[in-house]
Amino acid sequence: MGNKVTCVDIDQKKIEKLENGIIPIFEPGLEPMVLINVKNKNLFFTTNLGEAISDAEVVFIAVGTPMGADGSADLQYVLAVAKSIGESMVKELVVVDKSTVPIGTADKVKATIQKELDKRGVKLKFHVVSNPEFLKEGAAISDFMKPDRVIVGSDSAYAIDKMKQLYQPFCMSHDRFIAMDVRSAEMTKYAANAMLATKISFMNEIANICEKVGADANQVRIGIGSDSRIGYSFIYPGAGYGGSCFPKDVKALAKIAKEHDYSAKLITSVEEVNDAQKLVIAQKIINRFGEDLTGFTFGVWGLAFKPGTDDMREAPAIYVIKELVNRGAKVKAYDPKAINEAKTYYLKGIQHLTYVTSKYDVLKDSDALVLLTEWKEFRSPDFDELKNQMKNPIVFDGRNQYNTFNLEEKGFEYYQIGKIKWKY
Ligand SMILES: NC(=O)c1ccc[n+]([C@@H]2O[C@H](COP(=O)([O-])OP(=O)(O)OC[C@H]3O[C@@H](n4cnc5c(N)ncnc54)[C@H](O)[C@@H]3O)[C@@H](O)[C@H]2O)c1
Repeated sequence: MGNKVTCVDIDQKKIEKLENGIIPIFEPGLEPMVLINVKNKNLFFTTNLGEAISDAEVVFIAVGTPMGADGSADLQYVLAVAKSIGESMVKELVVVDKSTVPIGTADKVKATIQKELDKRGVKLKFHVVSNPEFLKEGAAISDFMKPDRVIVGSDSAYAIDKMKQLYQPFCMSHDRFIAMDVRSAEMTKYAANAMLATKISFMNEIANICEKVGADANQVRIGIGSDSRIGYSFIYPGAGYGGSCFPKDVKALAKIAKEHDYSAKLITSVEEVNDAQKLVIAQKIINRFGEDLTGFTFGVWGLAFKPGTDDMREAPAIYVIKELVNRGAKVKAYDPKAINEAKTYYLKGIQHLTYVTSKYDVLKDSDALVLLTEWKEFRSPDFDELKNQMKNPIVFDGRNQYNTFNLEEKGFEYYQIGKIKWKY
């Protein structure tokens, strides 16, 4: 939009990669956007925060807020940045909390910066703003460019005005800017994620009941989605939500409530249902092949927690694959983007797990195929190839139901979440 932006990270390797035009994550459309802005000298990368903020007007804190040991959001990275800002700022600044942070964090950021300014004996104005981010991985650019809403919380008219100017190019067709107090802005992010996670866990619970009573969750989904108060989005049954946000934010919200003497029963249940849901597909495999899976080989399509990303944080695939391997099975896995993440972090060193670079390569000698991510390339595979390569034509489908293929008609033994059991 014509702004000059400098990205700061303490991870030297990440910055070096970015300076060399290598994007450290997979996100559709990000690479060309970064390259063109670097070329046009609008976008810079550094590990030196002082240098980056010396002539900045607005500083975004967008570091991680991972789950701490007790489930609360770990604020050490956010507060470390706040400290660095206090140590190095030289002029009036709007400091924006973009990370998802517990209610009251803006006050902590403010106190941390002020403490450093006092140590330095300098008097500088600064304004702390909460501006939670709602983008979805896999659609990050379009979500950011065309936001449903921009939430900005602050008690400073100067800061609200500055943020309005900054977001004005993203709100051209109609006003999407919603100003509020800081704590309400912080809470809005948690409430939004908790609501979305609730929809998913609700539908997964309905799907589990559907299986017991002989109903088809996909037909029920269409039946209830047609009610505009419910809507079609986020009510697909599947192997549970994963990713970097829902699991940690749902847990953190329950923890925040507890700290304020409120037992958040609904939010806690959303998490419990999801934890159990991640193993529903593994349980179906156990029901079919037995408790001891020694001697069986399973092919897995999909490792990322959802399509369009290489992010595997809290992905159902981690839990399903570990369960199968722990029971003696061999697993062959394929994902268009996340194999490196699996190998390096999330399934590092797991024995009897191998990776292949083509989806059909997982099929050879596999006793069953397990689908776990809704990548487009899995929507319409070559079914003859599937049948020819596999030992048995058995498929376990843990994806959010796309209803794109009817495998029973093609002679497969096909297990889905929320489908009538006695059909098989
Ligand atoms: N990923 C999403 O889709 C998404 C969406 C909305 C909100 N959020 C929120 O945004 C925040 C960041 O998420 P993420 O997925 O990008 O996290 P991430 O863990 O992928 O990245 C965080 C980065 O911060 C860097 N960092 C840590 N300490 C630093 C410091 N002192 N100075 C400079 N850099 C430092 C790390 O090296 C890392 O590169 C989280 O609070 C998350 O909840 C994420």
